[in-house]
Amino acid sequence: MNSSFRMNSLGEGYRALVIGASGALGTAFCELLNEDPKCSVVRELGRNSAPGLDLEKPDSIASAAVELAEEAPYQLILHAAGLLHREDIKPEKSYTSIESDALQAIFQVNTLGPALVLRHFLPLLDPHGVMAVLSAKVGSIGDNRLGGWYAYRASKAALNMLIKTAAIELARTRPHTRLLSLHPGTVVSGLSQPFRSASAARPASIAAEELLSLIDRLAPADSGNFFAYTGERLPW
Ligand SMILES: NC(=O)c1ccc[n+]([C@@H]2O[C@H](COP(=O)([O-])OP(=O)(O)OC[C@H]3O[C@@H](n4cnc5c(N)ncnc54)[C@H](OP(=O)(O)O)[C@@H]3O)[C@@H](O)[C@H]2O)c1
Repeated sequence: MNSSFRMNSLGEGYRALVIGASGALGTAFCELLNEDPKCSVVRELGRNSAPGLDLEKPDSIASAAVELAEEAPYQLILHAAGLLHREDIKPEKSYTSIESDALQAIFQVNTLGPALVLRHFLPLLDPHGVMAVLSAKVGSIGDNRLGGWYAYRASKAALNMLIKTAAIELARTRPHTRLLSLHPGTVVSGLSQPFRSASAARPASIAAEELLSLIDRLAPADSGNFFAYTGERLPW
């Protein structure tokens, strides 16, 4: 890991908040931010933090934001939570496998929960700050070549719409804010483990550093867009 890591666009003593801090990318973000001499606070949120934030429990999102309001504003908010599979949920290979319960759970974690994160945490963001949400390239409708993964793809496409819509609104009232939808690439994690080919996946530490450097380079004019970790603009 690069020990000289620092973010230059957020000012001296910036405060960071990572939602989904227990995941592979969330942990890697926190490690890097804790190393940055310019960063004064790294607040980690997740199902097991205090306060807890469970994307399947809307009240916990609102109450976590109320508790953290004292420490606000944050100059950087990263949303690194997401769900592709769990014991009772597998990505669908065919429309014949679409299940109501799985669709609801994936949408709750990847779309509805993050919508409430926008509602309750954007007021805690510094007007010159950044909120970046981890989406996924498979949520691109224009780039969908393989099909399958109905719930995950659709939930990330809908997440992208929420980001775009909120960015339009923010540009009117807080034109210096950056609100970004980011694709981390294929990263070694529990989420990708059953599906990735080992050679294609990057360690989360590398992906997190690439994403933070990208966030640092992007300007308010880039707000409301969907970027790969390489800086490439992805089609909706
Ligand atoms: N890894 C990849 O190749 C890849 C590719 C494209 C996009 N992404 C996206 O990148 C993000 C991070 O993925 P990752 O690879 O780091 O996955 P990961 O290691 O599985 O981490 C997922 C995170 O989401 C959290 N989470 C799941 N359900 C939650 C809930 N109900 N409430 C609150 N938090 C919840 C987990 O918390 P717990 O620890 O409490 O379960 C964990 O912190 C996701 O949005 C994913 O879609 C990843």
